[in-house]
Amino acid sequence: MIIREAKVEDAKAMVDYLAAIAGESDNLTFEPGELKITIEIEEKILEQALASDKDVFYLATEDDEIVGNINFHGSHRKRLAHVGEFGISVRRSHWGQGIGGKLLDELLVWAPNHGIRKINLRVRADNESAIRLYTRKGFQEEGRLRCEYMIEGICIDHYAMGLVLEEQNDQ
Ligand SMILES: CC(C)(COP(=O)(O)OP(=O)(O)OC[C@H]1O[C@@H](n2cnc3c(N)ncnc32)[C@H](O)[C@@H]1OP(=O)(O)O)[C@@H](O)C(=O)NCCC(=O)NCCS
Repeated sequence: MIIREAKVEDAKAMVDYLAAIAGESDNLTFEPGELKITIEIEEKILEQALASDKDVFYLATEDDEIVGNINFHGSHRKRLAHVGEFGISVRRSHWGQGIGGKLLDELLVWAPNHGIRKINLRVRADNESAIRLYTRKGFQEEGRLRCEYMIEGICIDHYAMGLVLEEQNDQ
């Protein structure tokens, strides 16, 4: 398993990856078949991430196939340039092998080198293994976001979680 930054040439593999993970859990913002991201759109997304020093897009690959990714997005506005939010996913066949943890470790090395002091995420309040992973890495719950997802008419709460990097370094 290799972790590396995504390239524009990864766009097709990324589109296929997103289609696959959509059907592997109910923890993401999109349902199977719902994302209408073409290879051209994905190329633009990756180009933008590569062009911004406040964004980063890492892939976990195995035999040239994407098995996980973490995608951090920050802002250039002065008051927000220290903060950003990420999304993470791993192919179901590869859960529980430490890939999510390694992707997060990569982000935690990248972030302070790019002026990031605060990392945010949102997670379903019932996504226990993801919450355990984030907690292990030092993230703390900062609030409950009620009814963030609606799945088959049922409201699903999320937690806002955050990590202030200075605090982690102080420990
Ligand atoms: C959440 C998610 C990214 C975690 O990825 P992952 O690769 O399974 O994460 P890890 O393997 O690093 O950690 C998960 C578990 O595996 C265990 N683990 C870590 N390394 C391991 C290893 N080498 N061998 C066996 N187990 C290991 C961890 O202890 C952890 O166990 P826990 O659930 O009891 O805490 C993944 O489950 C996923 O994509 N889920 C669907 C989408 C999703 O929920 N995304 C997050 C939205 S906020």
